[in-house]
Amino acid sequence: MEGNKNWKLETGNLTQLPVSNFQFPISIMRLKNKIAIVTGGARGIGKAICKLFAKEGATVMIWDLLEEGKETAEEINSTGGKAEYFKISVTDKTAIQENAKYISEIYGRIDILINNAGITRDRTLMKMTDEEWQSVIDVNLTGVFNCTKAVVPYMRKNGWGRIVSAASNVGLRGNFGQTNYSATKAGVIAMAKTWTLEFGKYGITANCIAPGFTQTEMTAKIPKEHLANIKDNIPLRLLADPIDIAYGYLYLASDEARFVSGICLTIDGGWSR
Ligand SMILES: NC(=O)c1ccc[n+]([C@@H]2O[C@H](COP(=O)([O-])OP(=O)(O)OC[C@H]3O[C@@H](n4cnc5c(N)ncnc54)[C@H](O)[C@@H]3O)[C@@H](O)[C@H]2O)c1
Repeated sequence: MEGNKNWKLETGNLTQLPVSNFQFPISIMRLKNKIAIVTGGARGIGKAICKLFAKEGATVMIWDLLEEGKETAEEINSTGGKAEYFKISVTDKTAIQENAKYISEIYGRIDILINNAGITRDRTLMKMTDEEWQSVIDVNLTGVFNCTKAVVPYMRKNGWGRIVSAASNVGLRGNFGQTNYSATKAGVIAMAKTWTLEFGKYGITANCIAPGFTQTEMTAKIPKEHLANIKDNIPLRLLADPIDIAYGYLYLASDEARFVSGICLTIDGGWSR
């Protein structure tokens, strides 16, 4: 699997999980004929989700601001999967609504929404600017609201739907310098519980994944010494590969998880236990 080629981390005597050469085991097509939208699918965890879902038979719609999304879609299409990239911000309500309508007209349905797009603007509370607060709220929280509101009517029509949103272990525990980010991640957990109550009767489940520290561009910004410290506090002494997180999304998006709603599945090497 494609990963962050620039990733480097001192791992002591332990072997860090590779991010570049994951071999997918034989697919059992758990998402056959499903239409899945993955926000932030251009790179990182979102890209791993797109590739895994396509491998499992889904047609994947990538909603991302980054042009890298086009390459992700091409990679999937050139290896026997089906994907389309749309340059869309989760903050652009009109574009989202129009694109959801387009997808349902072309493909006849929308089954799965993965609210994965997210950003960080870290600073301690007393130094955090209004812009840093607001931009994280706009993408991580309002973006999830926008996308879910646009897509649920199509799921209701089919009587089947899966909504899985990106929370974080810091949404459960808080984190130094992340007032904005941890508030949004706690918020999406509460939204999934609320949507469980509102949409359960339509066959739609709503859940979250709380990834621990995962090797992506997002964590590549963390200073190396701090990262080594973080790793020492993870019982498995490793950071996650994006594929470790993607498998959690696959479960919650599949038929196997039909009786699971309102949960936040933590995948963090035992960090938050
Ligand atoms: N990496 C981690 O350690 C970690 C831990 C916990 C939670 N998460 C969460 O998992 C999700 C994915 O994280 P990642 O590490 O892969 O991050 P990443 O920065 O590698 O990828 C995020 C993707 O979201 C896209 N995106 C950002 N703003 C957008 C917008 N307005 N509209 C559409 N797309 C947008 C980016 O272009 C990018 O492709 C995020 O929600 C993040 O908060 C990550």
